[in-house]
Amino acid sequence: MRTLINRPSFTPNEIVNALSSYDKPTIRRYQRSVKQPRLNHLPGSRGMPVIGNIYWILKDMHRWMNQEYERYGPVFTARMPVLSPVMMLGPDANRFVFQNEDKIFSNYFAWNATLSGLFDNNLLERDFRDHKTQRKILQQSFKRQSIEGHMDIMNPLLDKGVEGWDNGGSIRAMDYIKELLLSTGANVFLGVDMEGSEANRISQAFSQVVAAAGDPIKRKEIWFSPYAKGMRANDTLSDFILKEIPSRRHSQGKDFFSEFCRLRDENNQLFSDEVIRDHIMFLLFAAHDTTTSALSAILFALASDLKWQEELRQEMFALRDSKSNEELVFDDIDKLVKTGWTFKEALRMHPALAVMPRYALKDFEFNGHVIPKNTIVVVSSLFTHHMSEYWSNPYLFDPLRFSPDRAEDKKDFFQYVPFGGGAHKCIGMHFAEIQGKMFLYYLLRKYTVTKSPKMISYRYNNIPMTFPVDGLPLTFYRL
Ligand code: HEM
Repeated sequence: MRTLINRPSFTPNEIVNALSSYDKPTIRRYQRSVKQPRLNHLPGSRGMPVIGNIYWILKDMHRWMNQEYERYGPVFTARMPVLSPVMMLGPDANRFVFQNEDKIFSNYFAWNATLSGLFDNNLLERDFRDHKTQRKILQQSFKRQSIEGHMDIMNPLLDKGVEGWDNGGSIRAMDYIKELLLSTGANVFLGVDMEGSEANRISQAFSQVVAAAGDPIKRKEIWFSPYAKGMRANDTLSDFILKEIPSRRHSQGKDFFSEFCRLRDENNQLFSDEVIRDHIMFLLFAAHDTTTSALSAILFALASDLKWQEELRQEMFALRDSKSNEELVFDDIDKLVKTGWTFKEALRMHPALAVMPRYALKDFEFNGHVIPKNTIVVVSSLFTHHMSEYWSNPYLFDPLRFSPDRAEDKKDFFQYVPFGGGAHKCIGMHFAEIQGKMFLYYLLRKYTVTKSPKMISYRYNNIPMTFPVDGLPLTFYRL
């Protein structure tokens, strides 16, 4: 009976084909036709009446995952009021889900609910052939020549942007990082110079759209809610982008937006205006909170380990002495080796996206369990990054574990996945590392970073993204 209800008129191949050609009417018809799968045969705590496990998940997701893993092993349900995903933990699960060899998993049905209305037609929610085609075109903007252009834009902005962080007392460092990334992002993503009221309007609209994505209720009828504000701001951003496109198509701008206006596919066709708008808006979003999260985790780690902080500073001074005003160039980036290990280690301990969802288009078997189609499955970087089978002292900040001598990350290709894996692996991961290194270069050459006296540990939430709950109170002292 259940099979009949769950299978109106679609075979798995039909839905894979619809996703491959991004045939949205068919995709939506499928979406409307599915019913929640039954998961009673799978292990997992039932949790509290009505709310299931949601309280424990929101309180401390990492602890909850550890407990359930101890009890049930790598596959278990996460009972929640509206939806009950199935957790699949560990490197084998990451490999199975990310590689997606049998086209079992869809990104569209997993991500669309979170991103719909704000970031329609984005790269992350596209699947199979359609995703491959779009990604291949966008990939051109992440090659060395483009990144050199991005670095030219970012150098003066990051240098100037960290001025004034030593305002005499403890600051909420996460707010400063967010602000810096917004102003840098307006330039490097949109090609908007931050001077002037137009730029402020765009930057404000952008922050509202980002805030809307994190609104759990997502009702635009509640006009004062972050989501409703974000929807209005979305129109502002969209109008701005569409108005700019004709002139950008002929510009030589080095920002992502201008580049997207010039990209051509294998038939030498340009992207349409709407496709450019959708891709650039999602890029802004995908880059912003993730990088804010990563830089916050790094600053906390450095403020907690002043000796290691000094080692990084010396690495920066070895590149350019303290008097030099020379900007960073592409070839400098690989020389910041210890800084690179630090970036990796911060993302190991505190991956921005602690969990990543996928949607099963067919029944499948994993680790002795049959998981029915139409189930949301969730893999976790956060969990895998702390498995003692792969990492020594996993809860300790220890960047040297990434050094070639120890290479702890090399036991299994899927044990370290802060940027995901497979076809959807973060397209901006090199950009993110470069931007992170540049930020630290300009910051550590100016300041010593210390923790606020009240701060003991990194207190953070993982939902919707990994952020410090206290805004990260730090104090900066000029060298
Ligand atoms: C430290 C910073 C970042 C982290 C931790 C991060 C993490 C991730 C992760 C985990 C995914 C995969 C999600 C999934 O498979 O469900 C992803 C995808 C993506 N990221 Fe990032 N990201 C970062 C920075 C950036 C930046 C700077 C950009 C753009 C310049 C960017 C653009 C994207 C895009 C477009 C996708 C979708 C890729 C696809 O579906 O093919 N990200 N990111």
